Amino acid sequence: MTAEARLADGGGGVGHGPCSYPNIGLRGQTGALFSSAVRSAPGCTAKRSGSGWEVASGGVTFLQACRCEPVARTPVWFMRQAGRSLPEYRAIRAEGSILDAIAQPELATEITLQPVRRYGVDAAILFSDIVVPLTAIGVEIEIEPGRGPVLDQPFRSKDDLRRLRRLEAGSDLAPVLETIRLVVAELEVPLIGFAGAPFTLASYLVEGGPSRTFGRTKALMHSEPATWHLLVDALAEICLASLRAQVEAGATAVQLFDSWAGSLSRREYREFVMPASRRILEGMADLGVPRIHFGVGTGELLDLMTEAGADVVGVDWRVSLADAAQRTGGEVALQGNLDPAVCLAPVEIVQSATRQVLAEASGLPGHIFNLGHGVLPETDPGVLRAVVDLVHEETAR
Ligand code: CP3
Repeated sequence: MTAEARLADGGGGVGHGPCSYPNIGLRGQTGALFSSAVRSAPGCTAKRSGSGWEVASGGVTFLQACRCEPVARTPVWFMRQAGRSLPEYRAIRAEGSILDAIAQPELATEITLQPVRRYGVDAAILFSDIVVPLTAIGVEIEIEPGRGPVLDQPFRSKDDLRRLRRLEAGSDLAPVLETIRLVVAELEVPLIGFAGAPFTLASYLVEGGPSRTFGRTKALMHSEPATWHLLVDALAEICLASLRAQVEAGATAVQLFDSWAGSLSRREYREFVMPASRRILEGMADLGVPRIHFGVGTGELLDLMTEAGADVVGVDWRVSLADAAQRTGGEVALQGNLDPAVCLAPVEIVQSATRQVLAEASGLPGHIFNLGHGVLPETDPGVLRAVVDLVHEETAR
């Protein structure tokens, strides 16, 4: 089945779920009104009886920290919290492609909720992938287990730009938007929508798969700057349409993953990448939801990634949060930055590394605890549960 057919097949239609326009109050509003929107947004109140204040607090702390507002305790979630480290994920995910799973709203909803139940994290992240808006417009991309996105026909010339048509999010992303509606109807904490940033997406399109050097990508960028700019501009439009639709469907925060931007010099980032990423982040400003901007190995770019228009900047483990605060100017919230590899060590070691991150974060205007990159598949879920509990205990105010 083609990628396009796959998404359409998972369909389920746009429909009007119980929570079709749950965060309508956020639309067209700015930061000042955000707090009231937080209170009325889905996933931010205790909908189920039981844990009372606990749930209500868990529901708002993430959004408060994103806004650099005071919090009852530091919120925590993990990049790649859904996925192969969870036995319940491996049990439910049949043999097929992850893209098939993403195209099934009920299945994708369950996978999104699994880590929230198991870990007690303060935010969920939509179970999808950065390549989904591209497969949805007919670009043939497969995700190879253990490797990542691959294309049989990489983008190599200006003619390939014709393969990127406009994203009609309502229809092209119908199953994903349906998943969001189903998730927010269930969820007691905010849902993070996401997109891959133009550079990271372009790197897959141009290389045809994962890369260490980004040689072909950089060669295109430098030798055919006009084509490069057309490429990242087209990707920016697609990402923006996808993110706006995710928020309209109920996501209460968004993360722009520029995972591989750390391979760029400051000059390259400023000239070839930042304008397109800025178009996306600034194009989200009127929606009033927090915008998280993240990349790996981006210590030297943190100020520019802030300048691109982020409310929260994601930091990997190579830079301490205190240094990151200096580099970002101290006005945005920071997200991070426990090394996911350290999470493979015995739990006492992980707990001490967690305390270290919290110590470096003390005094920051806003801190969302996370890993510096995604959960490694071999991670013991019990260790991550211990991290969540420790962050909550140590930071309770
Ligand atoms: O829990 C979550 O974080 C939500 C889901 C999520 C996935 N991909 C699901 C997934 C998110 C946020 C992503 C984003 C993503 N996808 C990024 C940016 C984040 C990052 O890690 O830097 C990137 C670069 C991709 C591209 C991609 N997709 C890669 C590199 C891989 C890993 C390949 C592998 O097998 O190691 C994928 C596949 C993928 N996306 C998996 C998951 C849970 C694992 C494969 C599977 O379960 O079949």
